[in-house]
Amino acid sequence: MQTLLYITASHRPDDVSVSRRIAGAFVQMVQGACPGLCVQQLHLDGAKLPYTSPAILQNWGRIGSGDALSDLAPADRENIRQMERLTAQFAAADRYVFAVPHYNQLVPYELVQYFTAVVRAETTMHFNETGCHGLLRGKKALAVYASGGPMAVDGQAVTLGDQWLRMVLAANGVTDTRVVVAENADFVGYGAGQDRLVAQKIEQCRAELEDFCRD
Ligand SMILES: Cc1cc2nc3c(=O)[nH]c(=O)nc-3n(C[C@H](O)[C@H](O)[C@H](O)COP(=O)(O)O)c2cc1C
Repeated sequence: MQTLLYITASHRPDDVSVSRRIAGAFVQMVQGACPGLCVQQLHLDGAKLPYTSPAILQNWGRIGSGDALSDLAPADRENIRQMERLTAQFAAADRYVFAVPHYNQLVPYELVQYFTAVVRAETTMHFNETGCHGLLRGKKALAVYASGGPMAVDGQAVTLGDQWLRMVLAANGVTDTRVVVAENADFVGYGAGQDRLVAQKIEQCRAELEDFCRD
């Protein structure tokens, strides 16, 4: 493992967000276990993610085949360049850690927007009449969810958001995704209650460390 991409989707800062406190501690554990590891952080909140404008969608086929894009507006060209940078970063990573809050039964919209920008035919997946065939192989992911109320059964997330994230990762070849769920975060009590929840979930992450790091 050489590169870990740490993607956060909470709208709250590192020291307040439950998902970020847990996932951030796990990233530090991985760094400790793998000296020399390159960690790239992507905070999706406020990241000005690229927009797949109507012009971009109309020209999607040409863009994929590398045509010159001189007839696109400057803003669209910049969106494409940004998408290409994000796709290259995503494709190059060996491991992914996601910090994801549960928002209205789903994930924050920035995470959906991120994958809209990142998924690219013939780079991250091959798409044909039989479906998506992932091209990113041998990678692993850990998703940490935080939820104000209940979210899990037997420790496994059961929301559409979790199903979607695992599905979109698998469609691009990342089939090995483990999940840690910190539920009832708004009901355990702010301060000591949340601290206990976070500490407990960090220990759950620790149990994943060896397998997550193994090549
Ligand atoms: C816009 C928004 C929508 C939310 N929707 C839900 C929800 O549908 N179900 C739930 O249990 N909690 C919901 N919550 C509470 C969050 O899941 C909870 O505060 C969680 O700790 C947020 O993750 P974070 O601490 O990493 O930011 C919502 C919070 C926000 C801000």
